[in-house]
Amino acid sequence: MSIVLKKHVNTYYATCPKGLEEVLEQELKNLGATSTKMSSRGVQFKISKENIIDIILYSRIASRLQIILFDFDVKKEKDIYIGLKSINWPRFFNLNQTFKFNFTQGVSETLKKKSQFKNTLYLAMLGKDALCDRFNTELGKRPYIDTKSPDVSITCHLSPKDVKEGKKERLTMMVDLLGSTLGHRGYRLRNQEAPVRENLAAGLIDLAKWDPENENFIDLTCGSGTFLFEAIIKKLKISPRFTQIPDVLDGNLKWNFQKYKFLDSISKSNQFNNKLRAAMRHYKEKIATNSEPIIHGNDFSRKTLDQTQTGFQRIGWHHLVSFSSKNAYKFDQFIDDKNLLFSNPPFGQRLDAIDEKIATLYHEMGENFKQNYKNSRFSVMSSDKQLLGKIRLRAEHKDPFSHGPLDCLLYTYHQM
Ligand SMILES: C[S@@+](CC[C@H](N)C(=O)[O-])C[C@H]1O[C@@H](n2cnc3c(N)ncnc32)[C@H](O)[C@@H]1O
Repeated sequence: MSIVLKKHVNTYYATCPKGLEEVLEQELKNLGATSTKMSSRGVQFKISKENIIDIILYSRIASRLQIILFDFDVKKEKDIYIGLKSINWPRFFNLNQTFKFNFTQGVSETLKKKSQFKNTLYLAMLGKDALCDRFNTELGKRPYIDTKSPDVSITCHLSPKDVKEGKKERLTMMVDLLGSTLGHRGYRLRNQEAPVRENLAAGLIDLAKWDPENENFIDLTCGSGTFLFEAIIKKLKISPRFTQIPDVLDGNLKWNFQKYKFLDSISKSNQFNNKLRAAMRHYKEKIATNSEPIIHGNDFSRKTLDQTQTGFQRIGWHHLVSFSSKNAYKFDQFIDDKNLLFSNPPFGQRLDAIDEKIATLYHEMGENFKQNYKNSRFSVMSSDKQLLGKIRLRAEHKDPFSHGPLDCLLYTYHQM
């Protein structure tokens, strides 16, 4: 069988944690994406080469950004090799660039069919062979593989088709644009992992439908402040890439696509540098001109709050947040305002029974909200339905999402 490759132009795929697809799609559309198509854990979209930089600079919710180059049908393993070898790789990449292959599998549209190819590590070897063989044919030499930080990170996604007879799957080949996750903002010290991925926190703020123009954002159990940072980024409409942009402008950091000859027109255009400079100007202006706190964080641990405040100080954002160290269910500030009260409370350690202290926290936060915050909304995230059930209120919306390996829920309550 001959394999027919479909070439894509200006087509991209943004990945996200499960449950955030809709808010990611909306964000991409707001940033200029068209022809969007949601799938599990991601959104495919189109945008011109001049404007993809807007997505790179301003997406708060995407985990990774990939450019889709080709797709083709496969029936058996050999088709994968034949299809990938028929790509003229040296036209896209250089011999001195290192590579990595990664295979992922989806399910068919009706969710009935799973991929017939089980061993993704083996498929990655097959992909590598196809690419190296094509380089050898064209140039008599092959590039090196680097599984840790390659110049070119290739993902081949297999989606089974709902055909009645036989097995048919669509292989979509894409290349990671940045070579790193967008879900890592870079404002934390190296040894301080965010307890919630920053892009997940950004997506949950959107799932809670926070309206920054008309509602305060108050995190009742703010811990290290991931949601506070993300709320500031949303409210001030600043680029979440604010730690990387200066390094890219100075040439100390190269996003992967800046090394690709076929994407020269993005990175070598004046627009690219202009947009980066404009993003940094806007960032500095917004941080400097807001002299009053715009977000509030609360946590009953003084020690945690001290560390969180130090984190804000380190990047010069300390004036944007006010803090309190109350018990979350005795919180009594901003009572007459319109607020989104947010909480990522402890989930509890014991799997067999619920921790009574934590159950009380959930219950009492709900009571405090019901009795005192008549103009507000309240959003709580948890992996534990039993604990959420301790809040004796009817949730206006319940949004499921994944947080690493955990299946979680975000419940949002309204009083207005
Ligand atoms: C799961 S952590 C929150 C993590 C946070 N989202 C972050 O980005 O670091 C829960 C936080 O709730 C705080 N906490 C627990 N019980 C509390 C209570 N009764 N009142 C206020 N804060 C509480 C803990 O000190 C902890 O920092």
